[in-house]
Amino acid sequence: MPSKAIIIGTGSHLPARIVTNQELEKIVETSDEWIKTRSGISERHIVSGDETNSFLAVNAAKKALEMAGVAPGELDLVIVATLTPDMPMPSTACLVQKELGALKAGAMDISVTCSGFIYGLSIADKFIRDNRKMKILVIGSEVLSKRVDWQDRTTCVLFGDGAGAAVLTGTMEDRGILSTHLHADGTLWELLSLQALGTALPLEPDIFAQGLQYIKMQGKEVFKHAVRALESSAWEAMKANSWQTDDIDMLFSHQANIRILEFLQERLRLPDDKVFINIHKYGNTSAASIPIALDEANRQGILHPGMKLLFVAFGGGFTWGSLAMRW
Ligand code: UT7
Repeated sequence: MPSKAIIIGTGSHLPARIVTNQELEKIVETSDEWIKTRSGISERHIVSGDETNSFLAVNAAKKALEMAGVAPGELDLVIVATLTPDMPMPSTACLVQKELGALKAGAMDISVTCSGFIYGLSIADKFIRDNRKMKILVIGSEVLSKRVDWQDRTTCVLFGDGAGAAVLTGTMEDRGILSTHLHADGTLWELLSLQALGTALPLEPDIFAQGLQYIKMQGKEVFKHAVRALESSAWEAMKANSWQTDDIDMLFSHQANIRILEFLQERLRLPDDKVFINIHKYGNTSAASIPIALDEANRQGILHPGMKLLFVAFGGGFTWGSLAMRW
């Protein structure tokens, strides 16, 4: 039997500062009731002071490494999924590698928006299938609060900051990652974008006056694509593993909107205790949302060896995908 990639440690880190819906009512024309009913979000964590993306990532990573019993020097690869890196160069992964002292490891960022953790795990999975001794750190980390327009009520109420991490290695046991399916559709990129601060647009006042340094989202359109893609990803993973919906012990979906999670739950006919939900506390943390949820579930002690876990994500690009694993 070939080796499989297994998660041996998880960690997460949320900034201490919590911003409630009531606080947002003072900034933009919105209401706690609207935000809760339309998105399910009650509060989100937002960075303050000198908290950066790499700072959140390092703190999440340290907790994951501690749980895994792996020293930073043993890591072979550090992958950071993010759309809000500290800077374009060096990658956030290099900053994390340095800060951890993981000097034997390669390091790279991947830019896959909200599907980043699933893409990251799938890369780790491929390496580990070849060499089961490898130890790989996969992090999803975001500082979205610095890339939302705090005057735009259609986006600023939705996003939050945070980081989640997982340490993977190989096992010969009948556990670990069973399948990954990755998808993208660049033809729809304009529905969810952050256009400035790359090299296509000049760093000029006109660009900033248009607010192109902030996340722009056509929410309703994105919603429609998200529900379709998340559901089809779930069925694709189940089919690949000959699972029925009854086989799923826990669904970890990207936390973008409670209505999307409820739709998925209904379509897959899953009971409440099989759909992990924490969007009310953190909002949409993009690439960090699934690893934060996974770490929370893990630390709550609700995951047991052999459980069948299904991960699905969807985000800007568009990108989407699934990952099935036996915990
Ligand atoms: O992470 C990547 C994937 N992201 C997603 O999947 C997000 C998908 N989209 C969504 O979650 C939802 O579309 C939103 C939560 C963004 C918006 O919910 P919606 O039910 O689609 O609302 P809407 O955009 O159709 O807006 C309904 C109304 C509009 O007013 P009118 O035109 O009906 O008069 C908006 O202007 O609600 C208004 N509105 C707000 N009202 C109070 C929009 N944002 C707010 C707000 N507070 N924050």
